[in-house]
Amino acid sequence: MNKQLSPNLVALILVGFTVVIVALLPVQIQFVREEARAQETPQAEEPQNVADTITLAQDGGDVVEFTLRTVIGGSPAMAFVGVGGEIDGVVNPELTVDVGDTVRITVINGDPLLHDLTIDEFGVTTGQLVEDEQTVTVEFVAGQAGTFEYYCSVPGHRETGMKGLLNVVGAPAEEAVQVADAAGAEYVADSAASVDETASVAPAAEDAVSIIRNPADVPPPVGDRGPETIQVDLNTVEVNGVLADGTTYRYMTFDGQVPGPMIRVRVGDTVELNLHNDEGSQLPHSIDLHAATGPGGGAVYTQTLPGDTTSFTFQALNPGLYVYHCATSSVAHHIASGMYGLILVEPQGGLPEVDREFYVMQGEIYTAQPFGTAGHLDFSYEAMLDEDAEYFVFNGAAGALTQDAYALHADVGETVRIYFGVGGPNAISSFHVIGEIFDHVYDQASLTSAPLTDVQTTVVPSGGAAMVEFMLDVPGRYILVDHSLSRLERGLAGYLYADGEENPEIFHGEGAADMAGH
Ligand code: CU
Ligand code: CU
Repeated sequence: MNKQLSPNLVALILVGFTVVIVALLPVQIQFVREEARAQETPQAEEPQNVADTITLAQDGGDVVEFTLRTVIGGSPAMAFVGVGGEIDGVVNPELTVDVGDTVRITVINGDPLLHDLTIDEFGVTTGQLVEDEQTVTVEFVAGQAGTFEYYCSVPGHRETGMKGLLNVVGAPAEEAVQVADAAGAEYVADSAASVDETASVAPAAEDAVSIIRNPADVPPPVGDRGPETIQVDLNTVEVNGVLADGTTYRYMTFDGQVPGPMIRVRVGDTVELNLHNDEGSQLPHSIDLHAATGPGGGAVYTQTLPGDTTSFTFQALNPGLYVYHCATSSVAHHIASGMYGLILVEPQGGLPEVDREFYVMQGEIYTAQPFGTAGHLDFSYEAMLDEDAEYFVFNGAAGALTQDAYALHADVGETVRIYFGVGGPNAISSFHVIGEIFDHVYDQASLTSAPLTDVQTTVVPSGGAAMVEFMLDVPGRYILVDHSLSRLERGLAGYLYADGEENPEIFHGEGAADMAGH
């Protein structure tokens, strides 16, 4: 922060920024007093009694009360709406108070989603409102004139519309404006340093599960059948998952794994898609299938609240290998958290037969803590905006497909096909298998064009896919990578083991082969 504060203003802030948060939780009443200092974030202190609140109110001007209720599904799609008084029914109402007033804002969670209310300059936050009708009151003294933003800090909610203005009227305007400008600049400055080396970290989540999709988990070929109506049921689940050894992360998934299940249909099939959002979810979810023709790829019909189910139907008009993903704001946050998968639309007559099929998807994870930190890592919205990922993953977790339980296996002499997709949300992959050459690349996952032949590395865009095929001639371990190889050191690697007889005519050397080598 590059604030130039006059001594008078510093004094004003130190005295005036005594913030009292009154949290009316369902079963208890908490009083937490926080003192915001000019250069620091607020420090929580011991709970105080009610008398503090009264003293504060007598010190300054009036006590001004507002009630806001969160609403979803209107315009904008998420907002605060005033309850009672002059702001009754107003969407994201402007709140006007005088300098020195004690401001009391009550926030009612009007939906089952996660929200909060935050005002950065006054160090005010309600904390997380998780449940429907949960109510929290924050109280603070408006010790500084200017225009400030109140907003919901849940990723994507501010951008979706959960923001309004707090006007504090009647003060030494020049300095106050300067502070407001500095605060505005701070948001930008913070995003430049997206990883905080000193960011604290919670212990690894004890309930964390493996979210890795086994790459051998591929549905059987459609075969030579006519078009049918296919029902697809997907369940969106938010779950603590193992990101790396000793490191956990809060994932959002289709059916509990990353990527979501591979869906396999044929051209001309009618797909009835039912999306259920698990009761335990804190966010709405949806699905956009790139294989569907129509607005949002289905996202317009499937914005689904926790506990609800939505449905829509589409006809698969174009053969190909397509990405599907959640399309609920912040879309990039939901994708980075694991909400992507592939749907294969086979051409009439099916695909050429191969011996082994695998399902691999690449994604990035944006954490507040640096790569390799042990514990339960937090998502960083700033890092995501900067496209500055800490982790790169195949099938959801760091090094997932190097683990014995999830590595790819085939025999020498067999043909291997990999359905490879990039969920992203941002990074393009230069997909390569170390030690192999792709005999066929169905570039851009176009299954109706002739494949490229004899390709070393293929570019796969975010939200795109490729189908690659090769024959295994020599036994040993092959390594799946994105040949932007810095990402190898951020978790992006997978093993393919080929078993069988040595083939010295094609490959041999002196001494023992070092399987750890490139
Ligand atoms: Cu919110
Ligand atoms: Cu989602």
